[in-house]
Amino acid sequence: MAERVISDVLTKPDPALEMTLRPSLFSEFTGQAKVKERLEIGVQAAKQRNEPLDHVLLSGPPGLGKTTLANIIAKAMGASMKSTSGPTIEKAGDLAGLLTNLEEGDVLFIDEIHRLQTTIEEYLYPAMEDFKLDIIIDQGPNARSIRLNLPRFTLIGATTRSGLITAPLLTRFPIRERVDYYQTEQLQQIVIRSARLLNIEIDESGAREIARRSRGTPRIANNLLKRVRDYAQVRGDGRITAPLADLSLALLEIDQNGLDEMDKRILEAIIVKFGGGPVGVGSIAVVVGEEPDTIEEVYEPYLIMEGYLNRTPQGRVATELSYKKLGLAPSSGNQAKLL
Ligand SMILES: Nc1ncnc2c1ncn2[C@@H]1O[C@H](COP(=O)(O)OP(=O)(O)OP(=O)(O)O)[C@@H](O)[C@H]1O
Ligand SMILES: [Mg+2]
Repeated sequence: MAERVISDVLTKPDPALEMTLRPSLFSEFTGQAKVKERLEIGVQAAKQRNEPLDHVLLSGPPGLGKTTLANIIAKAMGASMKSTSGPTIEKAGDLAGLLTNLEEGDVLFIDEIHRLQTTIEEYLYPAMEDFKLDIIIDQGPNARSIRLNLPRFTLIGATTRSGLITAPLLTRFPIRERVDYYQTEQLQQIVIRSARLLNIEIDESGAREIARRSRGTPRIANNLLKRVRDYAQVRGDGRITAPLADLSLALLEIDQNGLDEMDKRILEAIIVKFGGGPVGVGSIAVVVGEEPDTIEEVYEPYLIMEGYLNRTPQGRVATELSYKKLGLAPSSGNQAKLL
């Protein structure tokens, strides 16, 4: 395994920081305007009818606010939320335990729902549809199935890989929303809000510089803000301005377009090792020393959105912009040359 890169630190959640900075009301949640409005309407309508909210599936790349939205929804419903994640539900009994402990109107949040086992999923279907759970008790000749009535609850599922959700599960979520990368202006507002909460002195242009280089992701913006604050404290007078943020981000090896070390390793692997592609994500993963899933969930969507990569049926292909970024000349034949 290659050494961990700085970007790893910046893309990983910092639980204490996220607790402090996570907005708890729709009104504090910046961006994703349409998603927010649709969810707010759903919540308000359900409350007026005195019913639990329909099940909600939230999808999109990491760090864009899925868990945050789940918490906001539960709070707005006045419901309490129990959280779990797909891979931690190992046996049908685990799921039964979770479901039977819910109270009327509660929210059950299942993170990484695409990683639920198929057998568990099948137990979930009647629970979602009819609020019933069929469990098998005893073994061998005494085995029998009993049907439990569950309180009416709301399941909120979150996934970074909506493509991996099976059709039967997908269709059981009446509300499906996708969160997308944020615009710089929205991230700038998020940085300013976070700085206020953390008592960090920052000006508009400093916040903009951090926002611009955060890969459209609030989690990265908040993590960068903390690193830049350290830099401002030690190398400056504690105040974050654009030039100071620039120096600090350069030291973190985050370039002018917000690409970090791992992004560049990926582009370099495709261009230098695989002649620009097409190449499968598994081969890229081996060269850069990262999990294929992480490349697909974390790095690739942003690189594709920004026009550095194309995904074709044959594999990933580097675009002209990638060659430019790395200062390489696209060449016929199978190797790229340094300019
Ligand atoms: N719209 C937003 N406004 C303000 N802060 C936000 C917003 N979205 C996310 N954040 C911040 O970013 C952090 C990460 O968001 P969150 O944990 O909700 O992401 P996620 O989509 O659940 O990621 P993962 O897929 O890794 O679970 C939050 O703790 C919060 O501080
Ligand atoms: Mg989450």
